[in-house]
Amino acid sequence: MLTAYDYVTAALLDQAGVDIILVGDSLANVVLGYETTLPVSLDDMIRHAAAVYRGTSRALVVCDLPFGTATDPDTALRNAIDILQQTGCQAVKIEGGASAAPIIARLVEQGIPVMGHIGLTPQAVHQLGGYYRHGKSDHAADRLIAAARQLQEAGAFAIVLEFIVPELAAEITRILDIPTIGIGSGPDCAGQVLVINDLIGLNVRPVPSFAKPKADIAAIIRQAVGEYVTEVKAHTVSKPKEPEVG
Ligand code: KIV
Repeated sequence: MLTAYDYVTAALLDQAGVDIILVGDSLANVVLGYETTLPVSLDDMIRHAAAVYRGTSRALVVCDLPFGTATDPDTALRNAIDILQQTGCQAVKIEGGASAAPIIARLVEQGIPVMGHIGLTPQAVHQLGGYYRHGKSDHAADRLIAAARQLQEAGAFAIVLEFIVPELAAEITRILDIPTIGIGSGPDCAGQVLVINDLIGLNVRPVPSFAKPKADIAAIIRQAVGEYVTEVKAHTVSKPKEPEVG
C-alpha cells in the first residue's frame, strides 16, 4: 500500500502494481503544508480522493476519515457514505484503538469496508504528546493487542500498525486473521505502507526515520526548474522548430 493524493500519481502507482492506494489524511502535511493532520477537512479528502480514484483502474482505493469526522458511529457513517458516494473509493480508514471498535462495527454493518489504524495515530498527536514508537511497555503492548483483537472483531478488513515495536507488530500479525499493514513497525507485518513522497524523495521537510527514499525527485525538480530559470533569463530557451519547406 502507498498513499496518493492526486490523479497522475495514483495512475502511476496503479500501473506499477500497488495493491492498495491510501488517500491518507497525511494530505494535510504532505500536500497542504500543515504541521499536523488535524486541519484537513472532509471536503479536502473528498476532492483529492475523487482525483485519486479517477487515476486507478485496478488498485483498491481507501480514504481516511479525517480528524473529527468519526467521533461517533452515526457521524462516521454519514461521512463514510459521503466519501464512498462522492469519490468512488471502495473503503475508508479510521484511526483509533478499542474506542474505534463500535464505530467500525456500525460502518461494516452497513456494507462499508473499514481499515483500522493503531499504534501512532497522528490525529491524537496532542494527546500522545508527539510522534514516537508505541508498544514499549508490557501494559502498552497488552492494550495494542487487545485493540487489534477488538477491531478485527468489529469487522475491520485490515489494520495499519504505525510505528509499533517490531516484535509486537509481528505478534499482532500472528494473532490476527486479518492482514496487518505496517509503517515503521518492522518487516513482519502482512503488508507495508509508506507515504509516497517519503518513498520517492519529494519533500521539503525531514522524512520519518523509517522511510528509506528510493529516489530524489525533489533534487530532479530543483535541477530542471533551475535550468529553465537560467535559460529563460539568458533568452536561450530553444525555439520551436520551423516546418521544412520544399
Ligand atoms: O495518512 C496517512 O498517510 C496514513 C499512513 C501513514 C498509514 O495514515
